[in-house]
Amino acid sequence: MRKRRAAILAAGVGLGAGAAWWRRNPSPIPYWQRLFVELPHPGITRARLIEILEPGAGERLLEIGPGTGYYSMSVAERLGRGRLEIFDIQQEMLDHVMGVARKRGVENIVAWQGDARELLFEANRFDGAYLTVVLGEIPDQEAALRELARVVKPGGRVVVGEIVADPHMVTFDVLRSRAQAAGLELERRVGGRLAYFARFRVPEAPARR
Ligand SMILES: C[S@@+](CC[C@H](N)C(=O)[O-])C[C@H]1O[C@@H](n2cnc3c(N)ncnc32)[C@H](O)[C@@H]1O
Repeated sequence: MRKRRAAILAAGVGLGAGAAWWRRNPSPIPYWQRLFVELPHPGITRARLIEILEPGAGERLLEIGPGTGYYSMSVAERLGRGRLEIFDIQQEMLDHVMGVARKRGVENIVAWQGDARELLFEANRFDGAYLTVVLGEIPDQEAALRELARVVKPGGRVVVGEIVADPHMVTFDVLRSRAQAAGLELERRVGGRLAYFARFRVPEAPARR
């Protein structure tokens, strides 16, 4: 009995230490662990994202870190002749989403591989952008938010989703101050401490970096 308790305690400490290490060392979830991103996202559902992002027909939107495309099809299907551009550091994730799109006959998704800290796009390219359960994996979150403020048009929106099940979760208070430092203005938030979406606006005349 004592041995069993000791083993459970050791496993708990090990898991805790692992989670703490992972939190301090942001890194992309490897493709082989994709099962985790395919699980339901309670509190940050697809319907909630659509509600706060308000994708409109004809728009050009950017999704950073689509993973295996949990949200991508729902958004792309609402853009009609518009376009969803997905951007991920891992080519395998992008190939996965494009495979799903092909199977579903969704033709308005374009994939780009790169690091969100340095987007390869020109300024003001997008009507809006979103990223869910991604920011905490990026070592310099402020740089990524600054890049989003640059590539989204003035008056456009940037939606960030976070959930506590992610060991890299970025809390709302931390996000708000980083987004503010990057020049984004908070519009609204839905959800609570465990899972939320926050919508920011790119100011009409931001100090472009
Ligand atoms: C935890 S998954 C989330 C996937 C999806 N957004 C979801 O909610 O199911 C994080 C994704 O962000 C990508 N990612 C991590 N760091 C990145 C970076 N610096 N630049 C671009 N993509 C990144 C990962 O490759 C992965 O696809």
